Amino acid sequence: MKLALLLLRLLPPEISHLVALNALNFLYKLNLIGLFFPYTDSSESIEFKGLTFRNRLGIAAGLDKNGDFIDSLGALGFGFIEIGTITPLAQPGNPKPRIFRFPSQGAIVNRLGFNNKGVDYLVEKVKLRTFEGVLGINIGANKTSEGQKRIDDYVECFTKVCPFADYIAINISSPNTPNLRSFHLEENFLPLFEALSLARKKMQYANPILIKLSPDEDEKIISVILSAIQRFEFDGVITSNTTVKKEGLKQSTGNNLIGGLSGKPLFTKSNDLLKIAHSHDPCLFKIGVGGVDNKESFNSKLDLGASLVQIYTSFIYQGPQIVKKLLG
Ligand SMILES: Cc1cc2nc3c(=O)[nH]c(=O)nc-3n(C[C@H](O)[C@H](O)[C@H](O)COP(=O)(O)O)c2cc1C
Repeated sequence: MKLALLLLRLLPPEISHLVALNALNFLYKLNLIGLFFPYTDSSESIEFKGLTFRNRLGIAAGLDKNGDFIDSLGALGFGFIEIGTITPLAQPGNPKPRIFRFPSQGAIVNRLGFNNKGVDYLVEKVKLRTFEGVLGINIGANKTSEGQKRIDDYVECFTKVCPFADYIAINISSPNTPNLRSFHLEENFLPLFEALSLARKKMQYANPILIKLSPDEDEKIISVILSAIQRFEFDGVITSNTTVKKEGLKQSTGNNLIGGLSGKPLFTKSNDLLKIAHSHDPCLFKIGVGGVDNKESFNSKLDLGASLVQIYTSFIYQGPQIVKKLLG
């Protein structure tokens, strides 16, 4: 397994992600995942808003943007899988290269920019899923959309995915779509939240809506948005997306890269946001994500008030074995 991971690392990051996920799909089709990646799950399941999570570990948004790998990821033991970010129209994302690895620091910088095949493609994939765990769908806006069209994009995705989503994550925190993070400001999030609230009523969507937040906003801004999340009766937050601040990276080359930093250097920063959310309202449902790469960091998020934890970067570096490490 270690050799396979080392060989994959010789490939450019995006190609290696694709090769690894397709290999996983291949093993899944041959019914061999259990043989290659056995795990024992000593966790107790948790209930939230009528959903049963068989354990607290999930895969974060961005790894399976289009819903192509739901069943094979699910077979690895994750209690929940968040797919997306999806936008109404397919889009290519930013020019390559756009993923940069820093293995010795357990970090990645990415500026993918919501490359995805569009919401209609994802919905067709989701209809075919056999994964029985919880499926979250993370939604966003197309890069070319501005003003009201941007809000309409969220509503369109929401309306299309809600018959199939166990929860919906509203991504206002990707640093790689220009101005998306301005939705953290009241004048911008109010019309978005109103539109989503209306769409929820219209579609009679009773499952959770979670807002995915940026770790780069100051506490005042976060407090205002947290209060609004409660006022609009949304169900919780995901803390956090990647950070644009690169101080945590040792290499000077990394410090100048444009994009969002994930993995170990994000751990403390994402925890700070989790703490703010928890002190604002201990009862607010929180998914902790950012820099989890071992049992200790996994438990830290739970200790800080997260009900569930997601991973991305450590899955890239450690492969499926990470599931056993975190759940065993
Ligand atoms: C290559 C890459 C692509 C990502 N794409 C998305 C995305 O499409 N939507 C999203 O909400 N978060 C995305 N993220 C952020 C992750 O979901 C997660 O919030 C972040 O990486 C922190 O977790 P980690 O430290 O375990 O990687 C992406 C992260 C990476 C590394």
